[in-house]
Amino acid sequence: MSRRTAPAERALILAPHGRDARIAAQILLEARIEAHTCSKLGNLLDQLKVGADIAILTEEAVSDIDARALREWVDSQPPWSDFPFIVLTRHGGGLERNPTAISLTGIFGNVTFLERPFHPTTLVSVVRTGLRGRRRQYESCRLNDELEARVQERTEELAAANRELLSQIEERERVESTLRQMQRLEAVGQLTSGVAHDFNNLLTVLLGNIRFLERSLIDKGLDGKVVQRLSNMREAAQRGARLTDQLLTFSRRQHLEPVATDLNAVLSKVEDLLQSTIGRKITIETLVSADSCIAMVDHTQLQLAILNLVINARDAMGNGGSLCVSTCNVALGPPSSPEEPPAGKYVEICVSDTGHGMSKEVRAKAFEPFFTTKDVGKGSGLGLSQVLGFAKQSGGGVCVQSAEGRGTAIRIYLPPAEGAATALQNESSMLVAAPHSETVILLVDDDNAVREVTATYLRELGYQVLEAGSGGAALEVLGSSATVDLLLLDFAMPGMNGAELSRRARGRRPMLPVLFVTGFAEQDAFKGISERDIVRKPINVQELSAKLRAALAARPRQSAGDGLPA
Ligand SMILES: Nc1ncnc2c1ncn2[C@@H]1O[C@H](COP(=O)(O)OP(=O)(O)OP(=O)(O)O)[C@@H](O)[C@H]1O
Ligand SMILES: [Mg+2]
Repeated sequence: MSRRTAPAERALILAPHGRDARIAAQILLEARIEAHTCSKLGNLLDQLKVGADIAILTEEAVSDIDARALREWVDSQPPWSDFPFIVLTRHGGGLERNPTAISLTGIFGNVTFLERPFHPTTLVSVVRTGLRGRRRQYESCRLNDELEARVQERTEELAAANRELLSQIEERERVESTLRQMQRLEAVGQLTSGVAHDFNNLLTVLLGNIRFLERSLIDKGLDGKVVQRLSNMREAAQRGARLTDQLLTFSRRQHLEPVATDLNAVLSKVEDLLQSTIGRKITIETLVSADSCIAMVDHTQLQLAILNLVINARDAMGNGGSLCVSTCNVALGPPSSPEEPPAGKYVEICVSDTGHGMSKEVRAKAFEPFFTTKDVGKGSGLGLSQVLGFAKQSGGGVCVQSAEGRGTAIRIYLPPAEGAATALQNESSMLVAAPHSETVILLVDDDNAVREVTATYLRELGYQVLEAGSGGAALEVLGSSATVDLLLLDFAMPGMNGAELSRRARGRRPMLPVLFVTGFAEQDAFKGISERDIVRKPINVQELSAKLRAALAARPRQSAGDGLPA
């Protein structure tokens, strides 16, 4: 139904018999109301569809058959429309005695009966009243449309706000879960570093005493079962030392010596080692980037991380498969898991395999220390912890892609280095002049058992040893006229720690070489101290010897053997 708006209001007239149509049209024309005369009901229906505002019909113009078509049109009106009809009834017939008129009421709904003959004024006023009602219908329809449009607009606004809110909630939940995971890893890290520290002290005592026992048994010419048992103990303690080392890496308290390193060169260096590690059933491919991939990274930990990933890949491909190790430079967006690094540029090293992959549950726990799916004795669950701890401590991160039955790709991201790479380190040969039997070392350690073991090592190496159980006692020695050629001190001591003691010792004897012994230490505490000046617990005698000789050889000539307080 087309809707008409003022001023072109139009009346339709259907009065096929006699002069009624002409008279009605003339009256309406004089009243300035546009009128259109229809010859038949079909014609009227067509005009209604074109558009009209009121219809005037004579009662005899609507036969039973026509009435049905008319009812259909009336019923098809939209809800806002109640089209007005005026029916001109026959002269003399009251409505209550006119069955046709009554049936037309049922058909038209909004109908006014006007008895013929009518006065022109009556017709005009009835038509105007009908038109006025019709205008109201148009107006309420327009208001309704407007309201609906506003409701629609508001609904869309609300839906958009709701979508925005949902995505903010999702983002918040994601950030919260990342934060929870990071806090958990941090708490585990703190715990493990504490455990590692105590273990390193215990292992120093164990390994030291095992060594001394072995030595005296050999001196006495005894061997056999006892020596074998001691050797088993030493191996177990050494394994404990390796585990402790991995724990320290996970807790990101490993001492790293990051240097500009060409990852492509590292790959070619470890290729042979990797091949011999993975066996013949697995093919290995190395894809080095055409660009140079220089990262600031610790060589030893990097090689260990690659080896851990490669061993995991090998274990995931029990029936063979292929392994690919590749390098490239990448720019990353914001992280989507706590293991990934912040957005930025990184050098990537990726180890991918065609193995059995990880389930969602395994993936979620893979980086936790001691999480392993391997049989007892086959895995300690520290490989990926080392990889993650090392990557994070280096200023990068890790990303894992894995699906059950579809293989795994683990990427390590490392911070790029400015400038050229330094040459790859070979095992250090720090051998310098042999120790002088007069060389005096002041050894400071609060743990009596550890100190005793360290002192024995030093004496074995041919040094004279002065011992102090605290920073205060050491300062007293340094304040005296005693000869001290080198200060070897434990880093983590109650009261005055190693760093503080070293500062104060240098205040008294500025040229005195200092070496630190440590089971662990906060990375920040070691800033500015070279790896050359750090001896790791449990103490390895060769490392201790080499570092002592290097430190003594590097001391300024004039201070050698100078025991006088500065
Ligand atoms: N490439 C891989 N494919 C499938 N699963 C893997 C892969 N790498 C790690 N995983 C899963 O993650 C677990 C933890 O790995 P992680 O290297 O930390 O410990 P591990 O290999 O079990 O023991 P460890 O490395 O200390 O000898 C593994 O036990 C294994 O279930
Ligand atoms: Mg592993």
